[in-house]
Amino acid sequence: MNTRTILTLSGSLRKQSSNSLFLHGLAALAPGNFTFINYAGLDTLPHFNPDLDGDDAIPSAAVADLRAKLKHADAVVICTPEYANGVPGVLKNALDWIVSSGELMNKPVAAISASPNPLGGDKALASLLLTLTIMSAVIVDSATMSVPFIRSKLSTEGMIIDLQTAEACRLLLQTLEQAIHTKET
Ligand SMILES: Cc1cc2nc3c(=O)[nH]c(=O)nc-3n(C[C@H](O)[C@H](O)[C@H](O)COP(=O)(O)O)c2cc1C
Repeated sequence: MNTRTILTLSGSLRKQSSNSLFLHGLAALAPGNFTFINYAGLDTLPHFNPDLDGDDAIPSAAVADLRAKLKHADAVVICTPEYANGVPGVLKNALDWIVSSGELMNKPVAAISASPNPLGGDKALASLLLTLTIMSAVIVDSATMSVPFIRSKLSTEGMIIDLQTAEACRLLLQTLEQAIHTKET
């Protein structure tokens, strides 16, 4: 089997983030040919400014690093909380930096929202999907999900202990593999 490099991005900067922990749990369920690299630089990115973007602009080191990591990845998994019915500003800021540079164009992306609330952050997920769509990312249906009551579904070590959620994660990973394979052929 071909090796797969998956870049993960958590939309939460919190040290004890359940979204970051969920990405850890997802990685633990992945087949052996998957290598997960976590991007932890959301708080290093400057505020997006179109004057600093584009062909004539030299990107900051942080922006260049984000773009390089995305370019190198076979697929990307984003897991985000919902803040005030939307995507956290730090995550939207990162996505704004790659609209014109195009690293997500034709890239398989899995999008997850996780929340302690019963709706699982569905509005953040819907908003994230709109953004990914305009960026021409490859979003596969079974690779998107919102996870309600997140705190009851993770062990303190970051393992996904809810069987149904773990099954949905396995399906998500399979779907991602298929999308990467389709892109290669
Ligand atoms: C400013 C703020 C706004 C929030 N708004 C929402 C919301 O609109 N919907 C929701 O489901 N949870 C909301 N939450 C709760 C978050 O889902 C919860 O804090 C979650 O644990 C954050 O994810 P994390 O554990 O990965 O940091 C909000 C939390 C904060 C701090």
